[in-house]
Amino acid sequence: MDAQEIKALKALMEYEASRTTPPASFPALPDLPGGRYTDPEFMALERAHIWRKSWLLAAHIDELPEPGCFLLWEQADQPVVIVHSETGQINAFYNTCSHRGAPVVTEPSGKKLRLTCRYHGWTYNHDGELLSVRDPEDFKDLDFSCRSLSSVRCEQFGNLIFVNFDPDAPTLLDWLGPIADEWAEFRFDQCRLAARHQFTLNCNWKIAMEANTEVYHVKSIHPSTVAPILDDRRNVNTLYPNGHHRMVAPRPTGTVSTLEQQRSDLPEIASVGEIARTCTQSYGLFPNWVSPLSAFAIPPLLFWPKGIDQCVLETWTFAPDWGEQPAPDLWTEDQGARLAQVLREDTEFGAWIQKSVNSYGFKGVPLSYQEARIYYWHQSADALIGQDNIPKSLQVPPVITDAWIYPNDPRRAEL
Ligand code: FES
Ligand SMILES: [Fe+2]
Repeated sequence: MDAQEIKALKALMEYEASRTTPPASFPALPDLPGGRYTDPEFMALERAHIWRKSWLLAAHIDELPEPGCFLLWEQADQPVVIVHSETGQINAFYNTCSHRGAPVVTEPSGKKLRLTCRYHGWTYNHDGELLSVRDPEDFKDLDFSCRSLSSVRCEQFGNLIFVNFDPDAPTLLDWLGPIADEWAEFRFDQCRLAARHQFTLNCNWKIAMEANTEVYHVKSIHPSTVAPILDDRRNVNTLYPNGHHRMVAPRPTGTVSTLEQQRSDLPEIASVGEIARTCTQSYGLFPNWVSPLSAFAIPPLLFWPKGIDQCVLETWTFAPDWGEQPAPDLWTEDQGARLAQVLREDTEFGAWIQKSVNSYGFKGVPLSYQEARIYYWHQSADALIGQDNIPKSLQVPPVITDAWIYPNDPRRAEL
């Protein structure tokens, strides 16, 4: 982040602290329909569009470090095998044999010279090409070149491996847009995988994610954990193209981040600049990533639907090499046995809220200017689904105009 942008962000923090109403040009936000958290039809639309067309974090290169290493990945309810090929490229395929659909790998991870289907022995290389079949003489006109494993888009941002089920999706870099440049200082190409765990939560995945998409709750939910290290009245929300967003709020002088409180022995990401060192900031990457980037770690939380009222919270910590010290893990206690306190606080009301949204008494969700990132997420979701595909009662009107999408920002004109 250059000096001019740092200056502008600091000025925006003071602007937020001094305002007494939302900015004049910020729209009133219509209520979010409650059915977006309960209606199987909306869940089917999410599946057909959001999960199918978005770039999704699936793996870290440390999980498949050498040619031949593979990883089974089914978090998006599609059978996917990710493979490290001889050329060093990371490929992703449907874990679906081209013969009769048996899996080509059944172990969660491992290393294999070839991918051989155990049903009838068809064998593929790490680029998904069909190399051999048993009893080839019994097939008439079997064209091997048409029987490769079906591929899934797979691209890397540094050491992180993303997949996308849409052959027509933009590249990962285009999807990230300006965020790719803003993340350069965190050296995603050098981070190692320190921790990865998952927890089942009894609420719709968006209810869980939205607990991490605003700072309005900090004073009441996190009075002793986050509130002392986050000046919420100086929080600045930024909305980026493609539904991504960021919050950044200064830390009161003399306070340190949560990870620094836990560990004083961790190496820093040397290139990280002033904002990430002096503020709490968190990026929301559409659709399901929330990560408070700091000088010590890249720790994304990922939220995956497992039914209309259940989800998986995946907790990751990426960090610069920690040497002989224990690997850092921002999000859990006792090596993944339970969520860390901040996340226990954030997830406390999930099941209660799900009961409420399922009740006859629930009408919809009124959101404040402080919660604009939640509204923007829903508006962006509808853009990806296509407004015409959504029943009127579940639609979110696109009231946040381009004037509020980065690099545009009417607040900057008011400084
Ligand atoms: S299903 Fe794989 S070889 Fe028959
Ligand atoms: Fe929180």
